[in-house]
Amino acid sequence: MPGDIVAAKDPGAIWVNNLWFQWPSGLSVLQGCSLTVQPGEFCMLLGNNGSGKSTLLKILGGLLQPQEGKWAVEKPVGFVFQNPDHQLVMPTVGADVAFGLVDEHLPLAEIRNRVDDALAAINLLEMKRRPIYALSGGQKQRVAIAGAIARHCHVLLLDEPTALLDPDSQIDLVKRVRDLVKERGLTALWVTHRLVELDYCDRAFLLEAGRVLDEGNPTRLKHHLQNKSSSV
Ligand SMILES: Nc1ncnc2c1ncn2[C@@H]1O[C@H](COP(=O)(O)OP(=O)(O)O)[C@@H](O)[C@H]1O
Ligand SMILES: [Mg+2]
Repeated sequence: MPGDIVAAKDPGAIWVNNLWFQWPSGLSVLQGCSLTVQPGEFCMLLGNNGSGKSTLLKILGGLLQPQEGKWAVEKPVGFVFQNPDHQLVMPTVGADVAFGLVDEHLPLAEIRNRVDDALAAINLLEMKRRPIYALSGGQKQRVAIAGAIARHCHVLLLDEPTALLDPDSQIDLVKRVRDLVKERGLTALWVTHRLVELDYCDRAFLLEAGRVLDEGNPTRLKHHLQNKSSSV
């Protein structure tokens, strides 16, 4: 399979080369999509609704298979969905983070250490015993991220994680993820349509017509997109 484990010598933590993806209906979504995210980078992926952002992330997360192209992602990979209620399955914060570790068959003390470390990293340790239903949307997203940290994920794929959040929680989450990426040497690809979030990333990609139409400095891309939307 082309999308497989890569070693550190490979070109990026996330590497996508000439991906083509079509739904069985015949709808072409990705048409020669290529991008690279270097280890340690916090990158954002922008594009209109339906431009294929979620499709690309699902391919990178191993949830969909493209018809053509090559890709590689440094494992383990953590996925954060737009709606945390689709992702959190256990009754409490600590139990949910621990649940993500079941496949690893770790000793109990190691599980406890991993859960506490992950919750502390995203400032949720004091909520370890809190029921999931008693959390805000932003806190739920932080639990989902803690799950990936506990699994020692190298790469985080975040699909519009702030779409359901109010503006304060939105900025809080983007800053926390940026800090985590920088402090722990992670790599993140974050999908958004909210231009204000571009202020916090290293680099951005614009997906249009199934491929990366523009990429680079997020401030330049932000101004370009702001001018575009104000001219219509
Ligand atoms: N399960 C599906 N079956 C068929 N078409 C789909 C499915 N999921 C998404 N699509 C279509 O694929 C295109 C790309 O969707 P998506 O990757 O979700 O875009 P984005 O995340 O950029 O909004 C859209 O036209 C969407 O309607
Ligand atoms: Mg989407």
